[in-house]
Amino acid sequence: MRVLIVEDDVILGELLQEYLLRLDHERVQLCLNGRDACIAVAEQTFDCAFVDLRLPDMDGLRLLERIKGEDHGLPVVMMSGYPTMEYTIEAMRKGASDFLTKPFTLQDVALTLQRVIKEKGLLLENLSLQLECQARKELEKVNRELESRVAEQTRLFQISGDIDEIRSSDDLYNRIVQLASNLESVDKASFFIVPQDKSSLLSMANFGWEDDEFEPQHVLLGEDKMRQLLGNGCNHVLMRPNEVGVSIETESHSNRLLSCWPLRIRGEAFGLLMAVHKPQYRGLASEEKRLLDFLIRKASLAVENMALYESLISNFYGILKSLVNALEAKDLYTGKHSERVTRYAVEVGRVLGCSSTQVESLETIGYLHDIGKIGIQDFILNKPGSLTAEEYEIVKKHPAIGEIIVADLGLTPEESSIIRHHHEKWDGSGYPDGLKGEEIPFLARIVSIADAFDAMTSKRAYRDAMSCSESVKELMRNRGKQFDPDALDAFVCFIQKDESGQ
Ligand SMILES: [Fe+2]
Repeated sequence: MRVLIVEDDVILGELLQEYLLRLDHERVQLCLNGRDACIAVAEQTFDCAFVDLRLPDMDGLRLLERIKGEDHGLPVVMMSGYPTMEYTIEAMRKGASDFLTKPFTLQDVALTLQRVIKEKGLLLENLSLQLECQARKELEKVNRELESRVAEQTRLFQISGDIDEIRSSDDLYNRIVQLASNLESVDKASFFIVPQDKSSLLSMANFGWEDDEFEPQHVLLGEDKMRQLLGNGCNHVLMRPNEVGVSIETESHSNRLLSCWPLRIRGEAFGLLMAVHKPQYRGLASEEKRLLDFLIRKASLAVENMALYESLISNFYGILKSLVNALEAKDLYTGKHSERVTRYAVEVGRVLGCSSTQVESLETIGYLHDIGKIGIQDFILNKPGSLTAEEYEIVKKHPAIGEIIVADLGLTPEESSIIRHHHEKWDGSGYPDGLKGEEIPFLARIVSIADAFDAMTSKRAYRDAMSCSESVKELMRNRGKQFDPDALDAFVCFIQKDESGQ
């Protein structure tokens, strides 16, 4: 051990020094005054110090303070011949480890030193445990943060996957408000489209609003407010309901805060997400901001992609329609055949109770039912007389060719079935697959009737156009043979009304 003795009584000091050296302590230094002791502590390291309470140049308590200031962990044993209770308490308060009252035996010194060193060891052990405990707490904190980041990343990944699967803008707007409402601080949300003149907000989707609450529909705001909400560089704006328009300023919402996020395509705002915070929340937490920011950017990109995709598909349909027109223009007798077939099919589809999606399919794909004829040579298609068996076999390929042409349009099976199966017959004698009865897709059965009727009522090189009533009779002769009886009845009903101008 390295021991410091501060004692102005030279005899006592030297006695202690000699005794401790005999006990095999590494170093025992004697200082006769406080000043030397301060220098020794500043320059060297000790394991324990014995300090006399009365020194010639300094009060022992003052020296105790100086020693603790230099080396807080150094145990200090105070020595005094006349210790008062007040002094003892003060010394302990200033960090003294023990007290030796003069006169003391050398054995007392040895025992005190032993005890003090042991206490120091325990103290160091305790300190090390505390540090370990603190390190563990910090590790747990880092782990918690890491888990929270992983959870956040997982959530972002889920949002990304969710949005990637959405195919229509309406579904997207509904999903945005739903995802925003799932945030801890939010309990309802609305999505608005911003018209080009940026004069108002048109509600497209709402989520979380109670039945008795007034969902925002059409919000009219002043130019300044719109600029504040949508202005360039503006990201997330926190507002009160009364600042954003009267439509959501109700009793229950007047004290709420709203987070408003514009959605942009190439810097131009086209939409706005409005999240209504729960009463106890004064805005979004930072992780919620990150999440919503990601959602908004992802949704904006999805809308842009959808618009581009719709534009591409629309262009593609336009090209296909032009091809159909070009095809029909070559035949003087079949001009606008596809347009008429589409009109008949759509009307009959409505009579038969088709869903709006089915009617839409008839409207789009009906026009393209004969697109496969592009792959049939002109001399066969435009042949004035009847076809040879071989030529007829070639013509019969047009539904399958048509299906291949539209394969990349991403049509539903029901939509492409219109093209492939519009020449199937109810009794199974049609082509290309010889489907029978209800095996034939429903929309194809409707187009088949419309197609046959228009063929009959159109003039051909080898025959005149049949009248409507003659054509209906011919269709009815094939009821249950070539045509679906129910669909045919609906068609006849429609065409008779159409002819009579009802
Ligand atoms: Fe056809």
